[in-house]
Amino acid sequence: MQAWVHFVVILIIFGELSVGDEFRFASYYGEHMVLQKAPEEAVVWGYGTTGAEVQISLAGQQSEQVKSVSVLNGIWKVILDPVQAGGPYNLTVVQKGIKIVLTDVLFGDVWLCGGQSNMAFTLGQVYNASEELAIASKFPNVRVFQAALEKSSVELTDLAGVEVPWSRPTPEVLGGKDFTHFSAVCWLFGRYLYKSLNYPIGLVESCWSGTPVEAWSSLRALHRCGLKESTTSSSLSSYTDDDLIEWSSTVLWNAMIHPLLNMTIKGAIWYQGEANAQFNQDKYSCTFPAMIDDWRMAFHEGSEGQTAQDFPFGFVQLSTYRKVHNDGFPEIRWHQTADYGFVPNERMKKTFMAVAVDLPDIFSPWGSIHPRYKQDVANRLVLGARAVAYEETGVSFQGPFPNQVLIDNNTIIITYDQKIRATLSTDIFEICCSEEKKQCSSCSHWIPVPMKEQGSDYVLVTIAKCPLDNVAALRYAWSDWPCAFKACPIYSADGVLPAPLFILNRWPAES
Ligand SMILES: *[C@@H]1O[C@H](CO)[C@@H](O)[C@H](O)[C@H]1NC(C)=O
Ligand SMILES: *[C@@H]1O[C@H](CO)[C@@H](O)[C@H](O)[C@H]1NC(C)=O
Ligand SMILES: *[C@@H]1O[C@H](CO)[C@@H](O)[C@H](O)[C@H]1NC(C)=O
Ligand SMILES: *[C@@H]1O[C@H](CO)[C@@H](O)[C@H](O)[C@H]1NC(C)=O
Repeated sequence: MQAWVHFVVILIIFGELSVGDEFRFASYYGEHMVLQKAPEEAVVWGYGTTGAEVQISLAGQQSEQVKSVSVLNGIWKVILDPVQAGGPYNLTVVQKGIKIVLTDVLFGDVWLCGGQSNMAFTLGQVYNASEELAIASKFPNVRVFQAALEKSSVELTDLAGVEVPWSRPTPEVLGGKDFTHFSAVCWLFGRYLYKSLNYPIGLVESCWSGTPVEAWSSLRALHRCGLKESTTSSSLSSYTDDDLIEWSSTVLWNAMIHPLLNMTIKGAIWYQGEANAQFNQDKYSCTFPAMIDDWRMAFHEGSEGQTAQDFPFGFVQLSTYRKVHNDGFPEIRWHQTADYGFVPNERMKKTFMAVAVDLPDIFSPWGSIHPRYKQDVANRLVLGARAVAYEETGVSFQGPFPNQVLIDNNTIIITYDQKIRATLSTDIFEICCSEEKKQCSSCSHWIPVPMKEQGSDYVLVTIAKCPLDNVAALRYAWSDWPCAFKACPIYSADGVLPAPLFILNRWPAES
């Protein structure tokens, strides 16, 4: 009897809706969410009955607004007037007398976190995990959301699933099982950024272990690099079990990025590249920047111009994997910068990079490809965000990079763009010895050259076993695992930022 009465009540409430209609927000809006603050305008959308009017109201102590839109093809969408950072607000939508209220909504900066397993790597897996989890709830203004792992062969309008709905941080939310929720790099980036900005931060995680860049790219982006839709690679699902997963191009762009285009975001951070060390590696200096360009264009368009068309994009330069092999990691590190060695540069504007080559972790329980030092990674990313995304002056975020290389008297003097702290090494620099006076694209004869002398902004290496005229190229830290923990030979003067690897050719490329 009880159940029967209940059933009748439901019929009356939803009586006006025809079969298949539903009135709700899209999957990535919910209580506890952070919407993008002013000057950008937050986009909010959901589903309704075609033709019906939807009233949207935002109510809070700092400001109020009411808007009305009609439902087109089952979807309503509104662009809110700009709202300053803060909250909480209640966001209410009403259609035909049915009301949905989202409480505890904040306005702040929304950052998207993408990539593969080192982004998926959870806060529960880092060094000091228990301390990190224990203090998490002290940051209730940093909120998290995570898309579920889904693939699709067509571009989806909404996420097919949600792993973590918008939540305040708690040890339970952040401390999911390994590689599930929540991303350590994403969380720590948000927490450190909050410390610097002191207003709410929304973190949207959408990443998947073992994935190549092609899976996260649209066809448009792939075509720009001469790649076809059919490209498929396979990888272990994470480096700890044996599930082999096939990755077709675009499947994660379709299911886990395309649906998010309609929300307004401040920027994105990214930790990926390991899965391309052996797959389309030579294309990565095209595919990675092309993906960034394409995401920027698509998020700008999807948010009707609210997300900046050059939104800041930060990424982690690959850390270490194996000591003895060359697995293509140096090449990917170089390609991550579009072969410039540093970012931002002409090709990759408004980007920032956390160098992580000096954070090896041979004893990581999840394999050495997953170093546990995510605090350092997040710290370096936040320096880049402060300088590039927030244009804070006087924040150094790039390690030393050469701006002059002179060959003379059996020595090479490498002058850096900043003051350095150096430790002499016998083999971190290498020269390519070749009789051909042209750019050697694949030099087979690399000779280590010892660092002999250092100054406040230069180092001097001595050339042995190669006639001066035959020195065709110079490279630094060009191996998978070039140094011990925080002990690379060259850092910024404060010892914080390691010099990234480089390869410089003496002769110009042949055209
Ligand atoms: C939001 O709604 C809740 C529950 O209805 C109410 O208690 C609260 O006062 C509202 N907050 C604002 C800012 O309007
Ligand atoms: C772990 O915590 C200790 C003690 O607070 C601290 O000294 C150390 O730097 C922390 N390690 C990391 C990686 O955060
Ligand atoms: C979201 O943006 C994409 C890309 O511009 C567009 O194709 C799609 O129709 C938009 N979805 C909604 C619900 O507005
Ligand atoms: C190179 O060596 C010659 C002869 O020893 C010396 O005169 C010259 O100053 C040296 N050049 C530099 C740049 O050290």
